[in-house]
Amino acid sequence: MPSPTVLTFLALSGGQGRTTVTYLLGLQAASHGMPTLLIDADPQHSLTDFLRVSIPSDQPTLLEVLRGDISAENAFYPVPTPFQSTDLHRPNLFLIPCDRALDKAQRFLAQLSTNANLLHQRLKPLYPLFDFIAIDTPAYKSHLLLTALGAADRILIPAEVAAKGIKSLSESLAFLDECRSLNLTQAQLLGILPFRAQWHRTNPTAETKANLDLIQQIAPNQVLPPILESEFYRQALNQATTLAELAPQHSSLEQPIDDLLNRLFP
Ligand SMILES: Nc1ncnc2c1ncn2[C@@H]1O[C@H](COP(=O)(O)OP(=O)(O)OP(=O)(O)O)[C@@H](O)[C@H]1O
Ligand SMILES: [Mg+2]
Repeated sequence: MPSPTVLTFLALSGGQGRTTVTYLLGLQAASHGMPTLLIDADPQHSLTDFLRVSIPSDQPTLLEVLRGDISAENAFYPVPTPFQSTDLHRPNLFLIPCDRALDKAQRFLAQLSTNANLLHQRLKPLYPLFDFIAIDTPAYKSHLLLTALGAADRILIPAEVAAKGIKSLSESLAFLDECRSLNLTQAQLLGILPFRAQWHRTNPTAETKANLDLIQQIAPNQVLPPILESEFYRQALNQATTLAELAPQHSSLEQPIDDLLNRLFP
C-alpha cells in the first residue's frame, strides 16, 4: 500500500515557527497538486484558526480520532478559500482540526503504554488518500508531542535565529535523541529551519550571522535555507492566503518553503 510522507514539527519553545511553516508548507504542497492533510495537534489550535476551519461542537476533531471514537476517515475537513470565488474550498488540502478539548488527550495517552504509536495507527486508514501529512505540535514535552513524533517519517526543527531559538534547538535535539534511544520514533531529521533571520539587503545582520553560526555548530550540515524576518508571513496567515496570493512581488519569500518540499519529495 502506498504511504504518504508524514512530517512532524519539533520545537521545545513557543514562537519558533511551527504553525507558520506547517500552514505554508500545506498550502504550497496542495497548490502543486499533492493531496495534503494537515493535523493540528497543538491544543492552542492556531492552525485550525488560521485555516478558518470551523467545526460545530458535535463534529469530530483530533481528540475523537485519538480516542478511537471515530475513524480518521470521518474527521478531516476541507479548507475554505478566503476569496469570493466559485471554488469554496482549496483543492487538495484538508485538516484534522482540534480545539482546547485536545488537552484531555494528555490524560488518556498517559495511561497507554503504546501511546507513541497511537497516532500512527489511527492515521493508517488515511494513507491511500494523501501524499503528504504535516503535523503541528505543542511547544512542550507531552504525550501529544510523543505520539506526533511516533507517527513521523521526517522531523523538522524550526528555530528562531535568536538566543531563545538556539536554546530551543539544543533541547529539541536532545529530546529527539532520547525518543530515538527509547525507540519512540524512527523518523529521520529533515533539518533545522532557521526562523526570522534578519537580512539587510543581500547580507545577514551581524546578530543573525552570529546566531546562524551557532546553529551551524550545534547541527553541522543540517541547516536549511532560512525563513527571513518579514511581516508578510504574519499577514498571509491572518488573511488565510499564501505568500504569493498576498504579495506576488514578494514570491521569493516562498523559496524556503519550496526548498523544503523539494527535500521532502526530491
Ligand atoms: N517570517 C516571519 N517574520 C516575522 N514574524 C513571523 C514570521 N513568520 C511568522 N512570524 C510570527 O512569529 C510568531 C511565531 O510564529 P508561529 O506562531 O508560527 O510559531 P509557533 O512555533 O507555532 O508558536 P506557538 O508556540 O505559539 O505555537 C507569530 O506571531 C507569527 O505571526
Ligand atoms: Mg503554533
